[in-house]
Formats: sequence, structure tokens, C-alpha cells
Amino acid sequence: MMQTDQPLCPRVPHMLYGGDYNPEQWPEEVWLEDARAMREAGVNLVSVAIFSWAWLEPRPGEYDFGWLDRVLDILHQHGIAVDLATATASPPPWMARLHPESLPLTADGVRLWPGGRQQYCPSSPAYREAAAALVRAMASRYKDHPALAMWHVNNEYGCHVASCYCDVSAVAFRRWLERRYGSLDALNDAWGTAFWSQRYDQWDEILPPRRAPTLSNPTQQLDFYRFTSDALLELFDMERDILREITPNVPMTTNFMNFFKPVDYWTWAKHEDIVSNDIYPDPSDPESPVYAAMSHDLMRSLGGGRSWLIMEQTPSNVNWRPHNALKRPGQMRLWSMQSIAHGADGIMMFQWRAAKAGAEKFHGGMMPHVGPERSRVWREVVELGQNLKRLDEVLGARTPARVAMMLDWQSWWGLELDSKPSESVRMYDQLHRYYRALYARNIAVDFVEPGADLSGYKLVLVPNLYMARGDIAADLERFVSGGGVVVMSYFSGIVDEHDHILLGGYPAPFRRLLGLRVQEFEPMMPDQSNGLIVSKSGSGAAFSCDQWRDEIDLEGAEAIATFASDYYAGHPAVTYHQFGQGGAYYLGTRPDAAFMDWLLERACAEAGATPTAEALEGVEITRRMGEGASYLFVLNHNPHETQVTLPAPAYDLLTGEERPPTIALPPFGVALLREQEPSS
Ligand code: GAL
Repeated sequence: MMQTDQPLCPRVPHMLYGGDYNPEQWPEEVWLEDARAMREAGVNLVSVAIFSWAWLEPRPGEYDFGWLDRVLDILHQHGIAVDLATATASPPPWMARLHPESLPLTADGVRLWPGGRQQYCPSSPAYREAAAALVRAMASRYKDHPALAMWHVNNEYGCHVASCYCDVSAVAFRRWLERRYGSLDALNDAWGTAFWSQRYDQWDEILPPRRAPTLSNPTQQLDFYRFTSDALLELFDMERDILREITPNVPMTTNFMNFFKPVDYWTWAKHEDIVSNDIYPDPSDPESPVYAAMSHDLMRSLGGGRSWLIMEQTPSNVNWRPHNALKRPGQMRLWSMQSIAHGADGIMMFQWRAAKAGAEKFHGGMMPHVGPERSRVWREVVELGQNLKRLDEVLGARTPARVAMMLDWQSWWGLELDSKPSESVRMYDQLHRYYRALYARNIAVDFVEPGADLSGYKLVLVPNLYMARGDIAADLERFVSGGGVVVMSYFSGIVDEHDHILLGGYPAPFRRLLGLRVQEFEPMMPDQSNGLIVSKSGSGAAFSCDQWRDEIDLEGAEAIATFASDYYAGHPAVTYHQFGQGGAYYLGTRPDAAFMDWLLERACAEAGATPTAEALEGVEITRRMGEGASYLFVLNHNPHETQVTLPAPAYDLLTGEERPPTIALPPFGVALLREQEPSS
């Protein structure tokens, strides 16, 4: 059996349930009512003080903790633990008054003013000093409070202001570059400044990539991405170090935002105790379950397979899309269970009580405006709380995946810089096209970063790895020659870590593995497509493809599909190369979904990556494995009843009954089953 882990939050050894709680937006009489209602809903953890800085420190250096003391006491008296925020996410207006230079500047030189939130330059000494002092004061004040169960560091780092281009940031960027390159000569080489007379003679000449007359130096832009992710991480580490010093036994997290490009979550996740995520799938988008599953799998993978936490989702609707659809009855429970199905050990919401004022007053809350007595949403909130109480035995159970999908933030940054053959090649799209084919077949997927240990996997997917860093080519060769299967798409292995072309025919570092050489590539225009003819395997089936065409010379690989028309007619479009004990597929174009299904089914079969259960339209099935037990999560994403037949009867954790192999799931219904014969 697989190992199980310790509960995420040792002080609350249960499925975590709760949400953001902003008591400062309500009169004190409401607090007691809140705590009682939380108990009724089965809430056991709430995030407090995320945006409370101005209340906690109304004037610089003058703290007012009285109200927060009372809130924490009330919560504790009602048996509710606290994920206490460090409150540094939104500086009070006095910060801008006293330190206007702490306000961030965009690449166009526009200042971002107070009035919203997150208006600070990540490198600002004034912000850092005040934030550190607040964190120290909070930790010292509450270190022994019995409600304190977890630290919530800042909030959604980089969400609104990922990077700042001000003079203070310029100095910090230069220091970062000095550490990276050691000398200006090394920097000039790395940035390719022989081009367009860009050679730097002094460190002071270097700036963030502010708006320039035309395309900015790509390596400068790339390094600014790296610097930005690191500058924000420095902020996180600053708070973390204070918390570790004062409360060494309280776990800490900061909430991630799915596939958030500006922040390299691989690096970040190693700095925190618990991976947590905020997710707001659009109920009006039928693809939402696929996007959500992909995001959940990323979160599990960031923590190396450990359980993680949904820190925010809405019980009903958001307020920040142009049109904000409402979750259908049952959908909040279904999507909550979907995250647990992918490894989450807790469900938190934004937010507890729907706000009465402010920019988020039309955002849903667990306690909606209408009040609990009349509310469908409230009834569903209470039902979810009851459901979660039945799931403690799943805590820490792991997801067995034999397929890995490679994602490298640095490569992503490089890929989406300007001046490329096509601006349409986007990382998220590439990942999604692979992922959805596996999702539809109930095949579990982990994400991995380059350099990760691949030995536990049978199939490694590389939807795009524009930048080949480190030993990635050797790692993939070793994996395939030992019997693994790789599938890689176009425009991979094009540049090194400085965004310099790897010469000698594309994709230079992977040519041996793939058995081919790409001479030239050409994007298709947005309205163009080509046919894709499966040459072998007898079928001669025709599919379509778009976005990209590689001009491929076979050097050991065979063409398994060729282009149908244009200059490329009859030329290889998709290839296969046997390499050692395994094989490598290469896609020189972007095939349609039907082809991806066909190809990945074939690759999974070849690799021996088996589905968790048979595929059924709109039904998702995943497995988690604990010590001595394994669990099947059966999720009906269809808005209509669906019959599912499983291999064997099983015990339903939610109803406490044995279920026959064939079960009828209501619209958006779920079944969480303990399998009789634990899979090994
Ligand atoms: C998140 C944020 C919350 C709230 C929520 C609304 O980005 O962390 O504070 O604003 O979105 O959906």
C-alpha cells in the first residue's frame, strides 16, 4: 500500500472546512452569531485577518489587537481553529502617505495608487520593514493562543502586482543580476548585447524592461521574470523566518493561484509547509472540470504528492468576471469532492459571510445576503460540512500516477516572450490539450519539473519545453532507453537558459532521442489548418491539425502521421522513434482533440499506464490510496442522472452503505467509495 501522511494541520486532524472570515467588516454582535453558525455548518478552520492591516496598525507602529483577541477567543470557545493571516497583503493608506515610493510602477511608468489592494513594490524597504514588524507583533501576540493552528502568509502573492519597474526595483534587479552573473562581461554575453548596440558598461545602466521603442532584449525580460519570482519569494521568506523563530511548530502556507505564470511555484512550494490553492472555475464553461482537475493535480505535484488544501473557492458565484454564473445545486459539493479526489485534505471558501460593502459585495459567501433560513446555498454549505466529517479516513491518502507531464516555469516565461514565429503558442493551451485526453480516460497525471526523478513513471509528456536547461535531454534519454515512453510537441529544445538558440537543427538536445531533425518551422495562420493522415496502423484515418508545421527530416524515426496538403503534403507530421527499450513520439504540429485521444491512448497502452476506471462521458473517476485501503471518487459532472458500473461493490463513505457495482448518480452527484479489494 501507499504511505499516508500526517494531517495537514496537526491541531485539526480532520478534513479541514471553513473559509476567509472578515469580522472587522461586521459589528461585534454578529461575531457570536457567526461562531454559532460555523459550528452548525461543521466549520473547523477559518482564515482571519487577511486584509486587516489598517485595523491592526491604524497608525505606524501603533498596534490595536484588542478586537482580534476577542475574535480569536470567540472562535476558540466554539471549537473553531484559526488559519491566522500575517495581514501584510494590503498596506494601509498611511504607507502611501509616508512612503509614496513604496507604491508600484508599471512598465509604462504608471503609479498604482491606494484604493484597491496589494499596492506595494515587492522590493520596497519601507514596505518590507513595516511588514516584518507587523508579522513579528502578530506572532508574538498570538504564539500561545489556543486557536492558532496555521499561518496564512500574506495573500496570493503577485495576484495584482507581480512585478514593479520603479527605481527601487531597478537597484534590486541589478543586485540580483550581480549575484547571478558575477561580472558585466558575463551578463553582456548572456543577454546577447552585441545585438542592437546594447552592450552595458556599468551596472547602473541596467534597468527593468520598461516600455522601450520596440522589442526589448529577451534575456533581460527573462531575467526580470526570474528576479520578480525571487523578489516575491524573498518577501515570503522574510515572513516565514519570523514565524519559524517565534512559532516553530505552527505550519504555514500561502495561497497559490493555479497555473499562475509570474511565480515559479516549483521553487516556492519547497519553502512552505502546506501547499494551498485558490480556484474559481467558471460554472458556465463546460471545460471547467478539466481545468480544475489539472490545477488540482499541479497542487498535489508541487508538494511532491502530499495532500494539499483548497484555500479559496466560492460557494456560489464570483463578482469579477464580465458575467458571473452561479454554481448549480450540487455543483459546489461536486467540485469540492473533485479537489479531494485529486488529493486535497480540506475545503475552504471565499468567504464566510457575503460582504455588505466594498468591491466584493456581489461575491458569494457561505452565509449569503438572504440569511441562512431561506438559503439553498447555506443548506448546501451545511450538507458539505456533514459530508466532510465522514471523510477523515481519506486524510493523507496518496494518488498513484504513472503518467507525468513536464512543466517548467522558466521555459514558460521564455516561450511567451515576444518576437517568436507565432504568438499563438501558449503554455497553458499546450498542457490542456494533452491533459484533457488523459482526463477523459480517467488516467491519473502528476506534474513534474525538469530534473525530477522520473523512475516512478511509465509515460512522460512534454507538451512544450522551449527551453532545455540542465541535464533534461540526458534524463529523458535515460528514461526512454530504460523502457519509458515520451511524447513531446513542437518548439521544444529550442533555446538554452539564456534564450540563445541551440544550433545544429531543431530540437538540438532532443534530436537523438526523437530520431529526427527539424530544418525549418512555420506557424499556420490563425484561420488555417491542415489534414493529418495516419500513415501506418492500417487505419489511414484522417484528422486535422493547426497552429504549427515542422519541416522534419527523419533520422531513425518513422512517420506515423503525415500532412495532407500544401507544400508539406506527405511530409512527416507526427513521428515515433524506438530508443533503447522505450519509444519517443514527436508532434510537429498541433493535432485536433480526436487525434490527441488516439495518440495518447496508444502511448498509454505502450507504456502500460492504465486508467483508474472505464471512461464514461461526463463522469470522472479517480483513486486515492491510504494504508490498507483505497478509495474511488466517482464524480458525475453531467447535469443529468448517470449510471456508472464499477468493477465491484464498495462501501460508500458518504451514505455509510454498501453500493452495488452499478450506481445511479444524480445530476452533479458524487460517490466516495472504499474499495473492497484495495488496489496495490
Ligand atoms: C481571491 C482573493 C480573495 C478574494 C477572492 C474573490 O483572489 O484572495 O481575497 O478577493 O479572490 O474571488
